[in-house]
Amino acid sequence: MKGSRPFARARCCAVVAATLLLATRGYAQTASRAAASSQLTTLVGVYTDSQAARGKDVYAGSCRSCHTPVSHTGVMFAKWWVHKPLSDLYTFVAKNMPKNDPGSLDPYDAADVVAYLLKMNQMPVGPSDMPPDVDSLKKFRIEVKRSTKSSPVRRKKKP
Ligand code: HEC
Repeated sequence: MKGSRPFARARCCAVVAATLLLATRGYAQTASRAAASSQLTTLVGVYTDSQAARGKDVYAGSCRSCHTPVSHTGVMFAKWWVHKPLSDLYTFVAKNMPKNDPGSLDPYDAADVVAYLLKMNQMPVGPSDMPPDVDSLKKFRIEVKRSTKSSPVRRKKKP
């Protein structure tokens, strides 16, 4: 009898503490992810023209049956990918596409086809190919050139 209320209180506090802890951890994770991905963007040039050309062939062979290139641009691209780490796009394509045989792409083909997707979205080319490496792709945030659609970005425009 005597002990039941304090016990209930302790339980309640534990729940609150756990919730707070989770909330703080969630915040810390989001913050560190934002920090990690805010330094570089795809606008520095993360693929080459020849890589995108190879990706176009992959696309014709494995993706065109379900998609049209234009469907990956504009609002669709903004909604799915803009402000996300480049690794998200790569991982999505490598793991979930082609939808009828997910994960079947060779990692280099997956990187090439992502380069083609970037090209469709008018990303500038750079000095080297995009590697099929999640850790290096994490460093780049997907941003498109400022267009009428994109929301104002308050960070530095050019690195
Ligand atoms: C059998 C049909 C099919 C094939 C083949 C296919 N996809 Fe998809 N794809 C889908 C569907 C359906 C979605 C919607 C999201 C989902 O269901 O996962 C999608 C979504 C996507 C998206 C996210 C939306 C977007 O347009 O940004 C990308 C990127 C994508 N696919 C790329 C590819 C690439 C690259 C290939 C070829 C390697 C490919 N898909 C092959 C059916 C397909």
